[in-house]
Amino acid sequence: MSLRLRLNLLVAALNLGFLAALTWLLVIDYRSSIREEIEAAHRVAVQLLGNAAQTSPVFGPAPAVMVSFLQALGRVRANNIRLYSNDGVLRYSSPPSTYKAGRRAPEWFEALMGSQLKATVIGMPGARIEIAPDASRAVLDAWDSMTAIFLLGLAFVAVLHTALLLFLRRLLHPTEVDARRLVTTTQELAENREVMRLIEAGIEAERKRLARELHDELGQSVTAIRLIATSIARGSEAPGVVQGAGQVNEIAAGLYDSVHRIVRELRPAILEQPDLAAALHDLGREWRLRHPDVELVLDLEGDLGDLGEALTLAVFRSVQEALTNVLKHAGASRARLAVTRGDGRLEAVIEDDGRGASPALPGSGHGLVGMRERVVALGGSLETGPCPEGGFRVRIVLPLPGDSE
Ligand SMILES: Nc1ncnc2c1ncn2[C@@H]1O[C@H](COP(=O)(O)OP(=O)(O)O)[C@@H](O)[C@H]1O
Ligand SMILES: [Mg+2]
Repeated sequence: MSLRLRLNLLVAALNLGFLAALTWLLVIDYRSSIREEIEAAHRVAVQLLGNAAQTSPVFGPAPAVMVSFLQALGRVRANNIRLYSNDGVLRYSSPPSTYKAGRRAPEWFEALMGSQLKATVIGMPGARIEIAPDASRAVLDAWDSMTAIFLLGLAFVAVLHTALLLFLRRLLHPTEVDARRLVTTTQELAENREVMRLIEAGIEAERKRLARELHDELGQSVTAIRLIATSIARGSEAPGVVQGAGQVNEIAAGLYDSVHRIVRELRPAILEQPDLAAALHDLGREWRLRHPDVELVLDLEGDLGDLGEALTLAVFRSVQEALTNVLKHAGASRARLAVTRGDGRLEAVIEDDGRGASPALPGSGHGLVGMRERVVALGGSLETGPCPEGGFRVRIVLPLPGDSE
């Protein structure tokens, strides 16, 4: 059952309960006041007619005197009066009430409210008078007031219920303005991601250009220097010149290696053919060569060869940054890189056994921020921080919408 329906039912139940309680209080109140009124009126009538019955024989034949007395008296409030002669003939019956003539409250209501008083019979010479309490007018009055109050209560409850429902609807449903704002925010978010992607693409293009320039310009110049140094060494007999040319050749060779390393970093093989596994293995090889004192363990699981350029590059650049951080900040002796593909997502974890995060040594902070931006631009998430068992951990999760498992 929805929250709104549940609240609706609760409000309706509360309102109906309120109406029922109100009605019941009215019933109790009206019933006791009707009883009191009818009993009082009946007592007065019995008193009056009892006296009249005693005195009527003084004035002539008792029944006839009594009939004319009753005719003169007319209707007595809340009582029906009949006079029967001793042979059972009805000599007099009081006229019906003219008050709200022709109307009665429903039978069930009369039964609920009416007084249970029995008729009183007064004997007199030659006749008897029957005085029967009649609560029908008082009950009709109660019925009229109660229906008016009930209808008023019902109208009040209906208004209250509607107001409450409208309030709830507003509360539980975003308004149109909210919805529009939500749409705008979502659009802006998408646009931001698009901008991020464009920026990343721009940066990669710039890196490519730099790598090309370095390789073509600097690389070729260094090669030329080496060729010249070699030919100088060959063309000269002087030991100083040969040694000098040899040193130039060595330095140039070192420079050549450096240029190539920078080129590889700027434009890893990954850009030519985006295979994450191959690129990470390359990275591992390079690491072992250059940092033999820090052990790097690679755990790659699942097919990482067809992830697409954007995703492969995002993971590769993030891993590159995280591993650089291990060297820069961790002081670790061991690092582990685990990449797993499965359950429609790609997870990459880079952890080390170093000193963990050290708030005392705040860095430029651009590495992790850039990493997060790359990952978020692809709809993924990034967690970074010290591991409970020591060291530092970076965890990246990226959705693979094409993968369904
Ligand atoms: N592997 C790690 N071990 C310990 N601290 C780390 C590690 N990686 C990152 N940090 C901490 O997080 C900070 C932010 O890292 P980063 O955003 O890459 O900036 P930068 O490397 O330029 O300092 C670092 O300065 C460092 O304090
Ligand atoms: Mg860094």
